Amino acid sequence: MEIVPSSKLVPEDPAHIAIIMDGNGRWATKRSLSRLKGHEHGATAVRETVKGCLELGIPYLTLFAFSSENWKRPEEEVNHLMGLFKFFFKKELKELKKAGVRVRFIGDMAGLPLDIQELASLAVEETAGNAALVLTIALNYGSQAEITKAVQEIAVKVKSGEVCPEDITEDMINRHLYTCDLPDPDLIIRTSGEQRLSNFLLWQCAYSEFLFLDVLWPDFDKSCLEKALEDFYGRNRRFGAVSA
Ligand code: FPP
Repeated sequence: MEIVPSSKLVPEDPAHIAIIMDGNGRWATKRSLSRLKGHEHGATAVRETVKGCLELGIPYLTLFAFSSENWKRPEEEVNHLMGLFKFFFKKELKELKKAGVRVRFIGDMAGLPLDIQELASLAVEETAGNAALVLTIALNYGSQAEITKAVQEIAVKVKSGEVCPEDITEDMINRHLYTCDLPDPDLIIRTSGEQRLSNFLLWQCAYSEFLFLDVLWPDFDKSCLEKALEDFYGRNRRFGAVSA
């Protein structure tokens, strides 16, 4: 049996942090507020986290804002969330642009209200030249649907003779995912104490480190991010190999 020394094989900073922002509802309920207020405070935590990533030099941040399954929530809550996204993209765009943030989206954007699609496109266009932080917002996103879409696109190419089945590679699948121009996440954080992925980046998380925090999303701030990084630096990432 090979002995694995405890030194880190890849002692680098995480290039890409992805966050499942959970616990808005519980945060509000604990304060006898409506769940909607919890989401509003969640938007403040988004602002703080973006700022924290910029200050800490994290180049990629991906946030799970609305899943393809979140449509099952009460209509009032869904509408409020859509309103919040609109408000956020309108109000924050100038600041994000100034701060060097490049905004992108992953998910089935065509399934979102038209005004959100337009605001999202504007945010992408207006920030396309930025490079300090790539902020990816997962909206109407489901990982299984993303993989299914990739498989369908490749199947069409196989059917037309453009691609041979034996030429299908992991890299080709990657290129058909919404995340084709993003590195895989190094660290996936989920707040609120829940320990599951909820259909988030299932393909991309093959070698991600996971961190489940007992913090409700509206309470997440730069100090939580710093603690998460400290934890990450203590991990021994081997990517299937053994440590040197
Ligand atoms: C999960 O908490 C949170 C969501 C489904 C919505 C996330 C949205 C925001 C943080 C609002 C702002 C986002 C942007 C990008 C501007 P939950 O409601 O499931 O919490 P619970 O499990 O305690 O009920």
